[in-house]
Amino acid sequence: MCGLIGYIGNEQAASILLGAMARLEYRGYDSAGVATVDNGNVHVAKDKGKLADVIRECDIKTLPGQVGIGHVRWATHGGVTRENAHPHCDEKASIAVVHNGIIENYTEIRSRLSRKYRFVSETDTEVIPHLIRDFIDAGNTFEDAFFKATRELKGSYAILAVSATEPDKVLAARKESPLVIGLDHGSSFIGSDVLSFLPHTNRVLYLDDGERAVLTRDSVKIYDEHHNELGKKPTSVNWEWKQGSKGDYNHFMIKEIEEQPQVIRQALIQDNRLLMKMAIDILRARQVVFVACGTSRYAALIGRYAFSKIGRTFSDVIIASEFGYFSESVDKGTLVIAISQSGETADVLDGVRQAKANGATVFSIVNVVGSSLARMSDQVLYLNCGPEIGVAATKSFMAQLILLYLLSFSMDNSLSEGKEKLREISALVEADLHYHSLYIPAMAAKLKDKKDFYYLARGINFAMAGEGALKLKEISYVHAEGMPAGELKHGTLALIESGTPVVAICPTDYTYADTVANVMEAKARGAYIIGVSNVNEPIFNEYVRLSKVEEVLYPIVTTIPLQLLAYHSAVARGLDPDKPRNLAKSVTVK
Ligand code: G6P
Repeated sequence: MCGLIGYIGNEQAASILLGAMARLEYRGYDSAGVATVDNGNVHVAKDKGKLADVIRECDIKTLPGQVGIGHVRWATHGGVTRENAHPHCDEKASIAVVHNGIIENYTEIRSRLSRKYRFVSETDTEVIPHLIRDFIDAGNTFEDAFFKATRELKGSYAILAVSATEPDKVLAARKESPLVIGLDHGSSFIGSDVLSFLPHTNRVLYLDDGERAVLTRDSVKIYDEHHNELGKKPTSVNWEWKQGSKGDYNHFMIKEIEEQPQVIRQALIQDNRLLMKMAIDILRARQVVFVACGTSRYAALIGRYAFSKIGRTFSDVIIASEFGYFSESVDKGTLVIAISQSGETADVLDGVRQAKANGATVFSIVNVVGSSLARMSDQVLYLNCGPEIGVAATKSFMAQLILLYLLSFSMDNSLSEGKEKLREISALVEADLHYHSLYIPAMAAKLKDKKDFYYLARGINFAMAGEGALKLKEISYVHAEGMPAGELKHGTLALIESGTPVVAICPTDYTYADTVANVMEAKARGAYIIGVSNVNEPIFNEYVRLSKVEEVLYPIVTTIPLQLLAYHSAVARGLDPDKPRNLAKSVTVK
């Protein structure tokens, strides 16, 4: 939520920052702004709107200076206005600050400081430059004032600050919001993620909670909050920037959907011994609980069925933001499996912290190497699917499924056979992608005026109903609900009327007969049935043909047409699937 970038080097900062902000835009696109330092002045340009609009509307590209900070916003405190856009400055406009997170004690600080300084925004962030200024006015240097000010803040934050009085520095502070430093010769970067500066360098240093950083052109120093220097060593990340660019595709989302055959093959590259070790721990645990949000939670739901069907082990799935409310029953016999593409989702991190505090063991399934979740887990499996930029998760979901199947096969002691089956499916997925792309755009266009969609399925496919509906609603702004088909008659059937689209996921597996019976009930009330199956049924009005696979693996081949239906529905409605309104990819606030 919100993307930050800081740069100090020998090139024009604004153009470097704007490039980085474009790569960070998946984190927020309500407003954008930059502050640079040059010739004893802080220059700020910012506005509401997507980055491209802000670049068009204000003179942001030409800001002078080789030091600066930039921000793309996802509004929390205060509406989407120019005044609330970051950077925020002190009254003298000599300190500029960008922030991601929430300052919980901002009301108290603001009421104290507003007797001395004029506030111009409704944000919590604006207290920070005024607080720094207050410490400077009391005789501190900018750097000391920054340390003192950030020590007073409660809540979660990633903060970057620059000042006209110490122009050759970018200062940073982190608590529960990610910050990664990039090291290059003669320049230093600091961003909310590695992608932001990846075209420039892949030598990185991760800031941990409570840490501060002072970046100059040729040095980076890390401190604890009391200004004691810490010795930290840089590492390298093996992502390449070209993986994160759109190439010839119209949208990242379709590029990422099409990458999935390769994603499956990459996700299969795992350390077998680690998988077996984790499987043994899962089998031995007193209780196993998945914790995740959004699409990752639907992957967890599929994992739950796979653990039961293949690994013969019961597990539960708890939405991360609700996990804390179960803390009384979490103990050292609990194994928590946290699933997260970003590894930075605040609700997931919160749940994991709580689980660890109660003595639980934490495994995680993560995409972003070095993310907070990866670093706080006892064991980590990486998705290896490369950067995912589209806000709606697609390829990361596929990779999550593969890893959950790998764990399930390991629990069943059939890992090599399982890997072989999954490898074969990657070829089917490749052919399916081509086939579904031939007719789904027209189907989506035909359905473009429909307002409510219901996705029905049973057993392991039920989670696909949820994920299919989530994909559609988040990028097409259409109401969509996914549910176990058996629940339809307990309420939702009242909403089915003539022409209501019902997406029926009913491959000929162990769920087939019962699901089709429920679909009949909807059809009898006039529903327009989009059948997703390996066989065509007379009750279907539209047919989405699934490749025939082993029954427990149907979610893999079902994923592709459901993602394509959502993508083409958004395109048919004239919407940008990469940047759905009100949403952001990495949700770092609770
Ligand atoms: C946001 C994104 C979703 C994602 C969810 C969980 O809501 O828009 O696409 O599924 O966060 O993200 P995570 O990084 O934890 O998987």
